[in-house]
Amino acid sequence: MDFFNDHRKLFLAATALFLALTLGVAILPAINNQNNNSPLPNAEPMSAEAIAGKAVYVANGCVACHTQQVRNVAMDEVWGARPSVAADYADLHRTDFWRNTATVMGTERTGPDLANIGNRQPSLEWHLLHLYQPRAVVGQSIMPAYPWLFETKAEPEPGDVQINVPDAFAGGSGGKIVATPEALQLVAYLQSLKQVPLVDSLAPEFLYPTADAVAKSSTGGKDPSNPGEAGLDGAALYATNCQSCHQANGEGLKGAFPPLKGSPIVLDENPQLLIDVVMNGYDAREEYAVMPAVGANNGLKPEAVAAIINHERKSWGNDARQVPVAEVKKIMEFLKNNPNVQSK
Ligand code: HEC
Ligand code: HEC
Repeated sequence: MDFFNDHRKLFLAATALFLALTLGVAILPAINNQNNNSPLPNAEPMSAEAIAGKAVYVANGCVACHTQQVRNVAMDEVWGARPSVAADYADLHRTDFWRNTATVMGTERTGPDLANIGNRQPSLEWHLLHLYQPRAVVGQSIMPAYPWLFETKAEPEPGDVQINVPDAFAGGSGGKIVATPEALQLVAYLQSLKQVPLVDSLAPEFLYPTADAVAKSSTGGKDPSNPGEAGLDGAALYATNCQSCHQANGEGLKGAFPPLKGSPIVLDENPQLLIDVVMNGYDAREEYAVMPAVGANNGLKPEAVAAIINHERKSWGNDARQVPVAEVKKIMEFLKNNPNVQSK
């Protein structure tokens, strides 16, 4: 057996076997994997700012409390329009040459899932205030504050993004609180987290519907205990769509979000501007932040808009005429055909 006595032949045979196996077991499958995986057709690649923000997210340990995966169970329906699919993660790449892809899917959900936070909460001002002090916007929040992502300056420089913190949380130093580049990157990252819509026939159904969801689908989404015109619960819709900024008591936050209690726009006999603001957002005054197009972003239907505005028109001491769904529908159609009425 000449082969077993010749160390050159043995070495060459072992090397060839090793290379063949490496190719077949590791390299070809990896190439196949890469060719098989691409982001969804409508997905936008992350901006450089958002990629830097992901590093801030990792560095600050946000993954300890936040997941980024909408599981295929009905209880996750609040976090996204559909369950997450593998392609949602196809645009994540290595951190750098030395470090692998940071998986931020998470396993702990002490706070809400963030897979779709860019759609649910697009407001820069809200995110900055929330990061500076979560309890300034969400009274009961147990999320830690991240004051080191902000600086206090006597006078903000041009280009600085200043946040208006309610007095109780401002620390009393009297300086202006401005966001650091890291805070802006982190918010850019959060704003980029959006579920890309799938073609309807491809979107997986949520499994294991809860009793609540079954009851809702059998009553066409109506709340049987609520006597309102379309049976929708205006208070609950307000809580999910508006309360994070305008607060449960309708008083808003000084310097950031205006009060709806006593607001002339809310109380106006003609609800056109009110509906316009709800659907298309509002940016009329310097002293307040920008309101995003909450209604359009969340796909609010006339029935839901009517329930919300009627809730606002009758709460916190407000007492204005209740607007019928038909009137809301008409105004929404008018606004759709005349998208620029607000700025006139
Ligand atoms: C100790 C757990 C914890 C950590 C760490 C944490 N959060 Fe949170 N987060 C929460 C909780 C609880 C809430 C819900 C209450 C609230 O909105 O403040 C929340 C809410 C949020 C929301 C609003 C979600 C929504 O659906 O309205 C965002 C955005 C967010 N966190 C981002 C972050 C970022 C970014 C970090 C890291 C800098 C972070 N969180 C770190 C617990 C945490
Ligand atoms: C991300 C924060 C945010 C959310 C969510 C939000 N708003 Fe606003 N809203 C604002 C800001 C900021 C303004 C003031 C804009 C300005 O004047 O420049 C505003 C203004 C308004 C006004 C005008 C009030 C006045 O007297 O000037 C109404 C009415 C209103 N919002 C209703 C709603 C309703 C209804 C919802 C829920 C469907 C909602 N908002 C959700 C931030 C928000």
